[in-house]
Amino acid sequence: MKLARTVKEVKEQVREWKRQGLSVGLVPTMGYLHEGHQSLIKRAVTENDRVVVSVFVNPIQFAPNEDLETYPRDLEADCALCENTGAAMVFHPEAEEMYGDGFTTFVDMTGVTKELCGKSRPTHFRGVCTVVNKLFNIVTPDRAYFGQKDAQQLAVIRRMVRDLNMNLEVVGCPIIREADGLAKSSRNTYLSAEERKAALVLSRAVFAGEKMIRDGERDGEKVLAAMTAMIEAEPLARIDYVEMVKWDSIEICHQIDGPVLTAVAVYIGKTRLIDNFIAE
Ligand code: PAF
Repeated sequence: MKLARTVKEVKEQVREWKRQGLSVGLVPTMGYLHEGHQSLIKRAVTENDRVVVSVFVNPIQFAPNEDLETYPRDLEADCALCENTGAAMVFHPEAEEMYGDGFTTFVDMTGVTKELCGKSRPTHFRGVCTVVNKLFNIVTPDRAYFGQKDAQQLAVIRRMVRDLNMNLEVVGCPIIREADGLAKSSRNTYLSAEERKAALVLSRAVFAGEKMIRDGERDGEKVLAAMTAMIEAEPLARIDYVEMVKWDSIEICHQIDGPVLTAVAVYIGKTRLIDNFIAE
């Protein structure tokens, strides 16, 4: 497996693969890879001749008060996981490689970025769309893989690809959970033992809400109220949002009459965690 640090190296390698008629899959990540990322890489390996995993903690998707400096990093372990899972290349650029040379162009979006994480983190998706756009241009993948754990991000990327006529398929992959239900996240490493237990309130609320809808509840307010009450009962939890939106447009909705995304963002101590489910 190759470790590339420059855009030039990636472009040269991809050009050679394409010359050989090989298909290319891309798994964009910020590293500190876990089984959630690994499930994306595995799927990409089954669907493409060559897979590139980008490992880049993208500074422009973090607000000044967020965890850019402390975000966990372990390139050696990431490369081992990628190699063992069948990736052909890890792309690990420095920030200077991505945003040097007087960088001033950003990809911005309205609509799908208005609610949920877009409301709490107003500059976040501009950073995500910009870096993902750059990665698409550098790697020119046939397919790119994103987890449903970041469901709004998946909707945003799909929208961007459709709106800007990008020539690739966006593949969404299911949430991977710990045995006790907690959605896998690189940020779980921030949790103390006590907070780790408290964090289970997110998946408990998600499972309860999902069951209500599967059992026939059509009133979104009732589902959100039940989930909110469960989370509020956990002393270490502070709700950022508990919301229901239409899955295609990410517009707030209160009635379940089509696919809806029910998403939560909750601080456990200082750590902000997210979880969600899609149901109809
Ligand atoms: O989901 C992530 O890890 C990041 O938002 C992404 C898509 C790699 C862009 O930096």
